[in-house]
Amino acid sequence: MITALTSMGITVAIFVGLAVVLAVAEKKLADYGECTVSINDGSQVFSRKGGVSLLSALYDKKIFIPSACGGKGSCGYCKVTVESGGGPILPTETPFMSRAELRGGVRLACQLKVKEDLTIKLPEDLLAVKEYKARVSLARELTYDIREVSFKLEDPAEISHRPGQYIQIMAPGPDGPVFRAYSISSPSSQHDLVQLIVRLVPGGIASTYIHSLKEGDEVTFTGPYGEFRLSENPDVEIICAGGGAGMAPISCIIHSIYEKWPERKCQLYFGCRSTRDVFYLEQFKELEKKHPNFKVHYALSEPREDDQWEGDTGFIHLSVDKWMDDKAHKQAFLCGPPPMIEAVTEVLKTKNLPDESIFYDKF
Ligand SMILES: Cc1cc2nc3c(=O)[nH]c(=O)nc-3n(C[C@H](O)[C@H](O)[C@H](O)COP(=O)(O)OP(=O)(O)OC[C@H]3O[C@@H](n4cnc5c(N)ncnc54)[C@H](O)[C@@H]3O)c2cc1C
Ligand code: FES
Repeated sequence: MITALTSMGITVAIFVGLAVVLAVAEKKLADYGECTVSINDGSQVFSRKGGVSLLSALYDKKIFIPSACGGKGSCGYCKVTVESGGGPILPTETPFMSRAELRGGVRLACQLKVKEDLTIKLPEDLLAVKEYKARVSLARELTYDIREVSFKLEDPAEISHRPGQYIQIMAPGPDGPVFRAYSISSPSSQHDLVQLIVRLVPGGIASTYIHSLKEGDEVTFTGPYGEFRLSENPDVEIICAGGGAGMAPISCIIHSIYEKWPERKCQLYFGCRSTRDVFYLEQFKELEKKHPNFKVHYALSEPREDDQWEGDTGFIHLSVDKWMDDKAHKQAFLCGPPPMIEAVTEVLKTKNLPDESIFYDKF
């Protein structure tokens, strides 16, 4: 019995010893020294002590990469092309990559640790992304869980964004600041103000923070980000479809369109559960009167008995199927929960919209 206990003690001691050796070795090995990061054929080069993620190394140099999940490896937004260095791609990155991206050396900046010199390529658009300080100028509730908040820019005092782009706001989290993506709802002609439409996610860090902001409060955000590209050809008809806070980029797109092309064709499809979730309908009805080529369709998927609703009922993709024709020259912008985006995309395909004409942000 004593012999068995002694040998068990020796085994435990060996494992503890090994663990200590491994920890010390890792600490030693983790000293990667100074590493150089070269961007776009050396147009920007900086040195950084190795061991941090490429996302943080770039952030420290005020180079802001989209990172909607805040670096948790769950959004797949922080893609950069790595031309040399960086080692093999990790299993946490591959689910987000197409075959072409895998072949082209695309990596997730939040997963790739800087351990050696790196040569990377970034879209020029991203190098223009800035950090902004702004103050809340107006905040109002649109529904029981959706809030519209406007921020007057202070430093820099102006922003330039395309319709449908988003910013990443910094919110205080329990373990330090976190960043979350929010689409800009104000038209792109408005340079001194950024308006957001934010749904409160129960227990959510950033949405709770934004819902608590009062007029005069200061915020920090970076932007603009996003791949939405509204066609400049006014003959291309625009289809917008979404639900909830997905209204934000849609509102920006529609108001930007009618400031520039009063005759352009555009259709809005907005899905709500009941009238409790309806907002901006009156505003869009007014726009419809002013611009006869604008058509608005709201649909309720779960109308309540006391909802006096004469519009469409059912999921919003059914309204798209019902009202939209299948003639060519259309672009679609979809924003809302993933099942809604997927159902609308299927309908758009039956209406002959090619993949490259469908833009979406799922949230
Ligand atoms: C490109 C882009 C644009 C976006 N634009 C907007 C916008 O205009 N308005 C807007 O309100 N949101 C928008 N979002 C979503 C937003 O970035 C946040 O994910 C959302 O507000 C939740 O963040 P949080 O910090 O409050 O919650 P977290 O603290 O991140 O999450 C708390 C909990 O809620 C869960 N959760 C997270 N997000 C959701 C969700 N959407 N629904 C249900 N549960 C969730 C998490 O899994 C977690 O369990 C956008 C996202 C992307 C990627
Ligand atoms: S920041 Fe979301 S996956 Fe990298």
